[in-house]
Amino acid sequence: MSAYILGIESSCDDTSAAVLKNTLVLSNVIANQHVHEKFGGVVPELASRAHQQNIIPVINTAIQEANINKKDLSAIAFTRGPGLLGSLLVGSSFAKALSLTLNIPLIEIDHMEAHILAHFLQDEENKKVPSFPFLCLTVSGGHTQIVKVTDYFKMEIIGKTIDDAAGEAFDKAAKIMGLPYPGGPMIDKFAKEGNPKAFQFSEPRIAELDYSFSGLKTSILYFIRDRLKIDETFIEKNKSDLCASIQSTIITILMKKLVLASEQTGIRNIAIAGGVSANSGLRQAMQDASIKNNWEIFIPKLTYSTDNAAMIAVAGYFKFIQGKFANQNQVPYARQSSRN
Ligand code: KG4
Ligand code: ZN
Repeated sequence: MSAYILGIESSCDDTSAAVLKNTLVLSNVIANQHVHEKFGGVVPELASRAHQQNIIPVINTAIQEANINKKDLSAIAFTRGPGLLGSLLVGSSFAKALSLTLNIPLIEIDHMEAHILAHFLQDEENKKVPSFPFLCLTVSGGHTQIVKVTDYFKMEIIGKTIDDAAGEAFDKAAKIMGLPYPGGPMIDKFAKEGNPKAFQFSEPRIAELDYSFSGLKTSILYFIRDRLKIDETFIEKNKSDLCASIQSTIITILMKKLVLASEQTGIRNIAIAGGVSANSGLRQAMQDASIKNNWEIFIPKLTYSTDNAAMIAVAGYFKFIQGKFANQNQVPYARQSSRN
C-alpha cells in the first residue's frame, strides 16, 4: 500500500512543504523569504514571522499540487532541528496540530540527515540511488560534515568543521566583497567568468578529516583591505577573478578531506548534499574526482540541494515504514549536539 507523507521544513529562511507517495515527489513548494536581503543575512525574528505568514498557503499549495485530499495523508514529517529555534517552532507546532486534527502519526526529522536522504527521492524513472555504505559531504550554511552512511538512519560524522561552515565561508567572503546575501550563488555566478588562479589564499592545516574556514575568511578580508588601500576600485575591477579564486580555494579544501576520507574508509560511493552542493565548481570537482579516483558519485538536483521539504518527507517515509513516530511533547533543537 502506498503512503502519502507531508513534509514540512522551516529551519531557516525558507518555508517549504512537500507531498510524497512513498519516495515519489508529488509536490515540493518552497517560499523564499526576501525580507532578509537588505540586512545581509537571516534575521531570526523576521524569519519566524515570515514562516507564520507562509506556512498555511505553502502547505495548502503542496496538497493541491499533489492532487490529493489532506484526509489521504498517512503521516506528517517535520524538521525538528538543527536551525533557528523560532523558525523551527512554527513548523513543529503546525505539524503537531495537523497530526492531532487528522489523527495520523507525527515524525520528527533531523535537517542534516534529510539533506543526505534527499538522494533517495524519486522524481524520474530509474534514478540511480546510492547503495550503503556511502560517504556524504554535507555542506550548508551552518554545517560542513563528512558523514559515513551505513543505513538510512545509521550515520556517523567522521569529519566536521571546527569553526565556520563552507556556506558561511562563501557568504562571508561575498559580504566582504559587497555582494548581496546569500553570497554563495553570487560567487558561483561571477566565478564562471574568472581565473581561479588569479589570487592565492592560504589553506588551513587541520588534522585528519576536520575542516576550518575561519582563517580563510580572515585572509580574504586582509587581502582585500590591503588592495583597496592602493586602488579603491580593486573589487570592481577583479570581481570575477576574486570570486573564482575564493571558490576554487573552498573547493580544494573540501575535496582534499573527502578524498582522504575515501582512502581511509575504502568507500568509493561518494555523495554531496546541502546548499553548497548546488555550487557548479564543486559539482565539476566531484565529476573530476570520480574519474581520477574511480568513484561512483551522487549529486542532488539543484532543487534538492538547498533547503526543501521533499527531503524531510523522504526521511519521514523511511521512518514511517519503520514505525518510528514522534511524541507531541518533543521539542525542537537548535544544534545537533542538543538532540535527544
Ligand atoms: O542547505 P542550505 O540551503 O541551508 C542551510 O541548511 O544552511 O544552505 C545554504 C547555504 C548558504 O550559505 C548559501 O550561500 C549556500 O548554501 N549556497 C551556495 C550555492 N547555493 C547555495 N554556495 C555556493 N554556491 C552555490 N551555488
Ligand atoms: Zn539545509
